[in-house]
Amino acid sequence: MAIELNSVAVCFPGGVKALQPVSLRFERGVMTVLLGASGAGKSTLLRCLNLLTQPTSGTVSVDAIGALDSRRALHEHRKRTGIVFQQHQLIGRQTVLANVLLGRIGYHSAWRTMLPLPRAERSIALECIERVGLLHKALERVDRLSGGQQQRVGIARALAQQPRLMLADEPVASLDPASSRHVLAQLQRICHEDNLTTVVSLHQVDYAREYADRVIGLAHGRVIFDGSPAELSPAMLETIYEQPGALPGGAKPRVKPLFELATAEE
Ligand SMILES: Nc1ncnc2c1ncn2[C@@H]1O[C@H](COP(=O)(O)OP(=O)(O)OP(=O)(O)O)[C@@H](O)[C@H]1O
Ligand SMILES: [Mg+2]
Repeated sequence: MAIELNSVAVCFPGGVKALQPVSLRFERGVMTVLLGASGAGKSTLLRCLNLLTQPTSGTVSVDAIGALDSRRALHEHRKRTGIVFQQHQLIGRQTVLANVLLGRIGYHSAWRTMLPLPRAERSIALECIERVGLLHKALERVDRLSGGQQQRVGIARALAQQPRLMLADEPVASLDPASSRHVLAQLQRICHEDNLTTVVSLHQVDYAREYADRVIGLAHGRVIFDGSPAELSPAMLETIYEQPGALPGGAKPRVKPLFELATAEE
């Protein structure tokens, strides 16, 4: 599903303006990477997409659900939002399969999850494990896997939710380059194959160039770049990372209007 931020701003207690008013639309099948120095507002923006952080002003709305202004709408939205964390937040002593089955919880009532889940649920979980290339490890304890494999279990768990939106906040922060590429390539492939709206924050510009369809550059809570990775010039990168707020030569921010990136389907 496409998701839209309409003039969303976040100001934390104490007056920190983590996000200046911003309007953005995220389309299905597009992998968007958020870039920005530490404190730029990447996590805040990501967390606004499922209201883990409540905007101080503005609204968040989702196709087919509408504005996320009721508990029911938010529940429906979160059920369909897969999240991949920096620290994968898996249960180490449990098997890969058990962890991935946790992704199915949103589809069942609390008491139901205390009983063995039906076979159909196991098939969904196993399919997701297969998609991240770990079927041979399905019955292995998660704490026996490498960091990269654990992060792929995190992706499989998010996939088991049958999400429409996939959010990942620095999913490769603690991985070596080869594992990082593997994880990002999988997120990208799943984004394209499943037509998933995908938003990932990263610290590595090279990975953004390699895997992003769209890059959003943030500095001091402002969107200062919104375009394709090919349009990310060295000068723009310097602005994103070195001199937030001041664009070279007084240039205007390279930000696309809200609906320019809209795709034909939907
Ligand atoms: N819960 C909070 N309370 C107060 N201030 C916060 C809170 N969360 C974030 N901030 C502040 O908001 C700003 C944006 O933080 P955010 O975590 O979004 O940055 P980031 O781009 O994700 O940084 P990093 O790369 O270090 O993860 C920072 O100045 C941060 O200190
Ligand atoms: Mg962050």
